[in-house]
Amino acid sequence: MQFENIENSNLVKQLQDFNQSHVLQFWNELAPTQRKQLINQLETFDFQLIDSLTQLASAESPWEKIAQAAEVPPAITLAQQSPDGLHYQHARATGTEALAAGKVGMILVAGGQGTRLGFDHPKGMFPIGPVSNRTLYQMHFEQVLGRSRQFGVRIPLYVMTSPPTHDETTQFLTDHQFFGMDPADVNIFCQGVMPAVDKDGKLLLETKSSVFVSPDGHGGTLEALARSGCLQDAKTRGIEHLFYGQVDNPLIQTCDPALVGYHLNSGSEMTSQVVRKTDWSQKVGNVVSIDGKVQIIEYSDLPEQYAKQTNPDGSLKLWAGSIAVHLFKLDFLERSLTQADSLPFHLANKKVPFLDASGTRVEPDQPNAIKFERFIFDLLPLAENAIVCEVKAEDGFCAVKNAPPAKSETPEHVKNAISDLHGRWLQAAGVELASGIIVEINPTFAADVETLKGKIPTGTKIAESTYFK
Ligand code: UTP
Repeated sequence: MQFENIENSNLVKQLQDFNQSHVLQFWNELAPTQRKQLINQLETFDFQLIDSLTQLASAESPWEKIAQAAEVPPAITLAQQSPDGLHYQHARATGTEALAAGKVGMILVAGGQGTRLGFDHPKGMFPIGPVSNRTLYQMHFEQVLGRSRQFGVRIPLYVMTSPPTHDETTQFLTDHQFFGMDPADVNIFCQGVMPAVDKDGKLLLETKSSVFVSPDGHGGTLEALARSGCLQDAKTRGIEHLFYGQVDNPLIQTCDPALVGYHLNSGSEMTSQVVRKTDWSQKVGNVVSIDGKVQIIEYSDLPEQYAKQTNPDGSLKLWAGSIAVHLFKLDFLERSLTQADSLPFHLANKKVPFLDASGTRVEPDQPNAIKFERFIFDLLPLAENAIVCEVKAEDGFCAVKNAPPAKSETPEHVKNAISDLHGRWLQAAGVELASGIIVEINPTFAADVETLKGKIPTGTKIAESTYFK
């Protein structure tokens, strides 16, 4: 086929070499602006990379071999975290000092498309406060604000969006005046995208003048932090550690001083919060140690026989489940940027609508495409002294993933989890709660039980659903 007025002959050659010329099949029908749009997009693609990733789809799975060597990671377990114990108190004191010295910042990733939830806006805009109806964004921003006030310091917040969520998120946060945070402390940065391919390795057209692309996974955080200047901004502010959380988990113990302390006291470059798996088949990433390096094996990659291994007392050997809460040393992130392939791409079979050769849009009902995503937790094996830190799931993890009638991770589950958690905080602070009521605490009122104790007199009785703010 002859392409009218196409200037970039090198690109045409690359498309031919990599068997992707079909993306120009509607070229001769396109208006000049559409042609420019298509060329601009194609020029951002690394065809060699896409080709080599596609080859991986037919490669033999390496996981059986990796799983054979999987041992338990170095951990601070709940048993070691007794609030009266010296270990915990030392960690809390160290973390408090670092926080009060302004050495900790927060990354919130919100670039996902929330397809399972089926909400028409960025997921952070989803209302989740059980009494207040606050959105996920408001909850996270106020958590950062609560910690800032608790430690008398400015904690910068870096929010990662993606091309599909960026503009609406920026508008929403601006309209709500960043929920009380100083705009100078909020940085919104956008992650990159990757194209998908069909089962034959061919790029998929979304329109006649654009190829389908989607966010490049939460692992895109590393590159996007650097490209956007956010890493430099953090450094300039004197930040030494970045706390990382995902927008769909409102239970995150944002910048928890004890976690920061364990991380510092262990000289860890990357610390991950984990829950103790309740069942071998629980759908969380398995945090393990292989040849002395901590790493995560996705639940779908860990062969059953290894997931089922038990200790002599019957408990699960590979017990640590990732909840996607991490703490990074900033120097470590900088070093990882210089290491080629520090974050490999993972392949996932997904349904991707596309234009067929006749220009008709096809909505597949089965996975028809391979998407390529990077995962942030792949940084773990590169980190020196990486540790995991156990948290009770009900205290730190309940993510909004699914729309009803799903049986788990629905908005209703998450609202109940928030009310239950805050109810436990109130009881720990000596407050009596009538049964069946819903409670919610704004973190600017109290960021944790410790702070709550100073706010509400012991013996206070709460008879109806209440939002403490
Ligand atoms: P999930 O993988 O659960 O994706 O992301 P999701 O977008 O929330 O939902 P589905 O899978 O489309 O239904 C976990 C977290 O990682 C972020 C998401 O915003 C969420 O906070 N994420 C995911 C990114 O920031 N970028 C990505 O490319 C993918």
